[in-house]
Amino acid sequence: MDLCLNNRLAVITGAAQGIGAAQARAFAEEGASLLLVDRNEAVSVLAETLGGESLTGDLAEPGLAESIAERTAGMGGAAILINNAGISRPSPLAETTDQDWHAVMDINASAAFRLTRALWSQLAAHSGSVINIASFAAKRSTLFGNNSSYVASKHAIVGLTRAAAFEGATQGVRVNAIAPGVVATEMVKLHDEATRERIKAFIPQGRFADPAEIADLALFLASVRARHICGEVININGGLHMD
Ligand SMILES: NC(=O)c1ccc[n+]([C@@H]2O[C@H](COP(=O)([O-])OP(=O)(O)OC[C@H]3O[C@@H](n4cnc5c(N)ncnc54)[C@H](O)[C@@H]3O)[C@@H](O)[C@H]2O)c1
Repeated sequence: MDLCLNNRLAVITGAAQGIGAAQARAFAEEGASLLLVDRNEAVSVLAETLGGESLTGDLAEPGLAESIAERTAGMGGAAILINNAGISRPSPLAETTDQDWHAVMDINASAAFRLTRALWSQLAAHSGSVINIASFAAKRSTLFGNNSSYVASKHAIVGLTRAAAFEGATQGVRVNAIAPGVVATEMVKLHDEATRERIKAFIPQGRFADPAEIADLALFLASVRARHICGEVININGGLHMD
């Protein structure tokens, strides 16, 4: 199945590791051009390996979204934006600091807004596609609580997805979200081994997702094959949450 991603410029945030790196590899395999963004300098090594470009920076920094847009304008314009970078700072609600709340909301939701805004005209010019990496926690809570900032930020990115999809539909930009269950990355290692096993027991398929499985869905959503899919939040979770 030709996904027609050849030479389409994809901006992927949080691409140094985990789900972002898996998406970078998958899009490179399909012939897409890449601008990989991360605060971790390791992103430049991955970009070089894949024949793409990278930008090291913190998405919390004012002006970074505009710098990314300037860079992609010089590369012919962004056709695909994957707002993947995310953080989690679990703590019981009553102990969650303002600082942690704002940091999580800022990276998981506001940074996606800023970058979507900055790239919007380029995306519109290229019949573009935005994919926001949400979570099953965007549709319920986490499995064991103690992460209100993360859950709220993931609900927020779904709201942004739907609002942007509604506007984008008349301008040639499709906006969708992916809601992974639990994926085998560093983020999951925030939990100890016993908790990870407890989480696994909640997943009907009995395993965490491989990051490459999330990347496969992103490829499809970004492709011409998904041209009528607009404003969806697609579960990929081994049966952990169904709706
Ligand atoms: N791992 C899971 O189980 C899971 C489940 C559902 C959703 N998600 C979501 O998938 C996305 C990717 O998660 P992951 O598991 O690959 O996480 P990860 O921690 O392995 O990777 C996240 C990447 O984002 C980068 N990043 C974080 N903050 C940044 C910032 N301010 N500026 C620039 N880069 C920044 C990190 O350096 C890192 O490379 C996140 O949005 C996460 O919430 C993960």
